[in-house]
Amino acid sequence: MTEKKPAQPGVNAQPAANALWGGRFDQGPAELMQRINASIAFDQRLYVQDIAGSRAHCSMLVAAGIVSRADGDAILNGLDRVEAEIAAGQLKIDLALEDIHMHVEARLKEIIGEPAGRLHTARSRNDQVALDVRLWVRDALDRFEAGLSALQHALVRRAEEHVETVMPGFTHLQAAQPVTFGHHLLAYVEMFGRDRGRARDARARLNESPLGAAALAGTSFPIDRHRTAAELGFDRPMRNSLDAVSARDFAQEFLAAAAISATHLSRLAEELVIWSSAQFGFVRMSDAFTSGSSIMPQKKNPDAAELVRAKSGRVIGDFTALTIALKGLALTYGKDMQEDKEPIFDAADTIELCLAAMAGMIADMAVNPAAMRKATAAGFLTATDLADWLVKAKGLPFREAHHVTGRAVKLAESRGVGLEDLSLAELQSVHSGIDADVFPVLAVENSVKARTSFGGTAPDRVREQVLWWKKELGA
Ligand code: ARG
Repeated sequence: MTEKKPAQPGVNAQPAANALWGGRFDQGPAELMQRINASIAFDQRLYVQDIAGSRAHCSMLVAAGIVSRADGDAILNGLDRVEAEIAAGQLKIDLALEDIHMHVEARLKEIIGEPAGRLHTARSRNDQVALDVRLWVRDALDRFEAGLSALQHALVRRAEEHVETVMPGFTHLQAAQPVTFGHHLLAYVEMFGRDRGRARDARARLNESPLGAAALAGTSFPIDRHRTAAELGFDRPMRNSLDAVSARDFAQEFLAAAAISATHLSRLAEELVIWSSAQFGFVRMSDAFTSGSSIMPQKKNPDAAELVRAKSGRVIGDFTALTIALKGLALTYGKDMQEDKEPIFDAADTIELCLAAMAGMIADMAVNPAAMRKATAAGFLTATDLADWLVKAKGLPFREAHHVTGRAVKLAESRGVGLEDLSLAELQSVHSGIDADVFPVLAVENSVKARTSFGGTAPDRVREQVLWWKKELGA
């Protein structure tokens, strides 16, 4: 079957010559050229930033005496109307107008006439688009950080409930040593905390204005870049006009931070998938974030967690796509850079959605401490505690203690029981020095309680960490 695509609005077979380029071209671009060249389908998302940048530029042009106050007022009033129209969904898309910058200017011209043509004085679409994308990413970084913060709040709340809940800790996904569930959840709070730090770092480096770099070399008009930078909330104007129109590393930093965060989310998502399986039963996901099966009535699939796990691939792909588009690009602007937008938008949408879904899943999940406690019975989780006890109480060198413990594990395994189920006589058969004091050491609760080193899993330590995070988060 051939694919039928919906008709493309605004595509004329024989487009007219572009009004904004004046007389340079006497024939309009072919339809294919329009389709590959136009970015309006996606860069319309920049309209708020584009108009904010134009307002700041216009006010500065008036203050500098480059544009008259009357024309400046007409432009500012016109921009208000254009913004209201677009906000109301009334943007009329015309692929011949390529991008959001030309759409806004063309509509402004329709509304206010001749003065519209003065707005682009001392400006190029090159510094304009660099500005718009920077402003958009700055907001995206703020939303990203807010999403991370909300997820941290959800995790800390659950961690506080489970400071004493014992579960198996894993390495190689093999049961290793008992830990507390609260401690495990706080590990993710730490990761998302570093993700927030990356967002903040990226924002601080991003926060310089490219506006006024013009096409690439600056301008002969007496503009005031410090004024526009301040009006748009930037710390300062960028120092080098060539860099200002070329740089997209601020976007790469956002995508890299989002990609790292997405890998953290995918690890947590994978654990939710494992924990909610019938074999583990550590948690039960709420109905809100699961689906049933059309054929197997017993199923409750952790769809949202699986999707968070998978969507990390998109975000990593977005970083890769932009980085490859930029690599090898000669200074300054190249149309390649128009390809920065879709990865940025996709990564922002995806990471925000995943963070919100994860916060919801964590807040809603039902935790089953009994299943976690039961799982600690398998895998000889207190073997390390036995070896440590042989060192501390009986003075054995750790290597020998390790050996003795290995023999005890082998014995328990052959009998199909846990270490704590061996009799004293059996334990003494692997090492004659063992006495009855060993039994409390083999209990998982005591194992956990004993791990009081800074950052360790002892409930007292985890309680301190919960308090530290609550203070840090203002929770
Ligand atoms: N739509 C373009 C982009 O997103 C705007 C800049 C166009 N500049 C140019 N010199 N053609 O990159």
